[in-house]
Amino acid sequence: MRQSCLVRKPVSPVVLVTGTSSGVGLALAHRLAKLPYRVVATARKTSLDQLRASGLHEDKNFLLRPLDVTCAAERVALLAEIAERWGGVDLLVNNAGIAYSAVVEEMTEEDEALQQATNYLGPMALTRLVLPHMRAQRWGRVINVSSVSGMMAMPTMSSYSASKFALEGASESLWYEMKPWNVCVTLIQPGFIHSSSFQNVYWSKVFAERSVEASPYRAYYKNMRPFIARLMNLSMTTPESVAKTIVHTMQRCRPPLRVSATPDARIFYLLRRLLPRAVYHNFLYRSLPGVSGWIDEGTPSSTQDVAQH
Ligand SMILES: NC(=O)c1ccc[n+]([C@@H]2O[C@H](COP(=O)([O-])OP(=O)(O)OC[C@H]3O[C@@H](n4cnc5c(N)ncnc54)[C@H](OP(=O)(O)O)[C@@H]3O)[C@@H](O)[C@H]2O)c1
Repeated sequence: MRQSCLVRKPVSPVVLVTGTSSGVGLALAHRLAKLPYRVVATARKTSLDQLRASGLHEDKNFLLRPLDVTCAAERVALLAEIAERWGGVDLLVNNAGIAYSAVVEEMTEEDEALQQATNYLGPMALTRLVLPHMRAQRWGRVINVSSVSGMMAMPTMSSYSASKFALEGASESLWYEMKPWNVCVTLIQPGFIHSSSFQNVYWSKVFAERSVEASPYRAYYKNMRPFIARLMNLSMTTPESVAKTIVHTMQRCRPPLRVSATPDARIFYLLRRLLPRAVYHNFLYRSLPGVSGWIDEGTPSSTQDVAQH
């Protein structure tokens, strides 16, 4: 039988979006509210009021629901409710994400686990829950919000990069696995977005016990954090424009596996592709802010050194 005979594209597709309390997710929820979709906009319980305060209101085609993507019970309960009400999810947008800012040596196992659970394990678990319905109707879309950090890594962002590299790898596998079922998988790759989300960066638990000043890596943080904040400030791309790119991708007949969502993402993609690896890494290293002064005479090599001063 030809595949087209089996395809049942929904007239008013059901969209589930994660992390809609701020930034890209919030802009996407507002945009979707005006379109002919049935929408489930989700946020962690603690952020639901923030979502309501933004002017989003529930109606028969627009639901606001609690979802912490790291919580299996919440994922299962929500999917059961959607299946009962609307049959299942036709489009999943895995947008929720967090970003730790810490060098490898100063991440704790607990921090690593939360970073991976939020940006990789949770989205994959949610994806597993929506696929059976999409396969059954031979139509579906999984859109994973990745990052330029999913193709390049920066110092102090190791765990975040690892989570996005993992998301990229799994999504690429899934793209092959789902193609025969007419389920399209897309990675949205924003670079720097003009938003306040850098204020949401997570600090390693290490810094609950000692100050950044006591870190042998203090100059890394002193240089990298304002540098990233500055690049975000300079960016012309807003959460609204990324949301527009996501909606455009949702509406395409054959969405591609990867979509760059900011101009710098396109530049980094080209640099990565065209430059020989050693040249690329050395170029980026030399572009790091103040890198020649990251270790100077006064830098403690351990936290004990600081205590002795
Ligand atoms: N901002 C950038 O420059 C940039 C660049 C590249 C990629 N991205 C990616 O774009 C996506 C959206 O980021 P954004 O810039 O809009 O950041 P944001 O404003 O910090 O939004 C992140 C959202 O994720 C939610 N979230 C965090 N942990 C969650 C959990 N366990 N369960 C459910 N929701 C959770 C947050 O909700 P709470 O309010 O509950 O914390 C918030 O709504 C992320 O995947 C991010 O990695 C952002």
